[in-house]
Amino acid sequence: MKKAITTCLNGEARTLLVDEHHSLLDALRDEAGLTGTKKGCDVGECGSCTVLFNGKPVNACLVLAVEAEGAEIGTIEGIAPSAQELHPLQQAFVDCGAAQCGFCTPGFIVAAKALLDGNPEPSIDEIRFALAGNICRCTGYTKIIEAVDRAARQLRRQEVAR
Ligand code: FES
Ligand code: FES
Repeated sequence: MKKAITTCLNGEARTLLVDEHHSLLDALRDEAGLTGTKKGCDVGECGSCTVLFNGKPVNACLVLAVEAEGAEIGTIEGIAPSAQELHPLQQAFVDCGAAQCGFCTPGFIVAAKALLDGNPEPSIDEIRFALAGNICRCTGYTKIIEAVDRAARQLRRQEVAR
């Protein structure tokens, strides 16, 4: 049976018609048209579907769409400050060569944003721990960790310059 849910999706109120048994991941991709959130395993193992749920990173494949009623959901499409400007995390992934096939990249960037929102100066171990639920088959992780560290430093510089 279909149900209408209203969420704050990337800062805008959106009403989606979802099947009660459907995941938030399917609702985002199929109903909201936000295909940046990737479906890797669909069972909570890979982190490619990571979104922000009321500011916390979750695997969207493990959340029922109906649970998002009234929630704030953030996806990779809402990360950049504008259509002309990348978020420092996105820029750092480009600059560090941290994306190869790119399938895992949205999940890593959303998980990293959740980390940096709560901890602007993470240690390398804290970055590793925060991204431990995200799997990448291409990069070997070193460049991803480097990119998040670089973005953290860039965000701190921006904060000081304000
Ligand atoms: Fe959700 Fe893999 S698709 S964790
Ligand atoms: Fe290919 Fe991570 S860049 S899976």
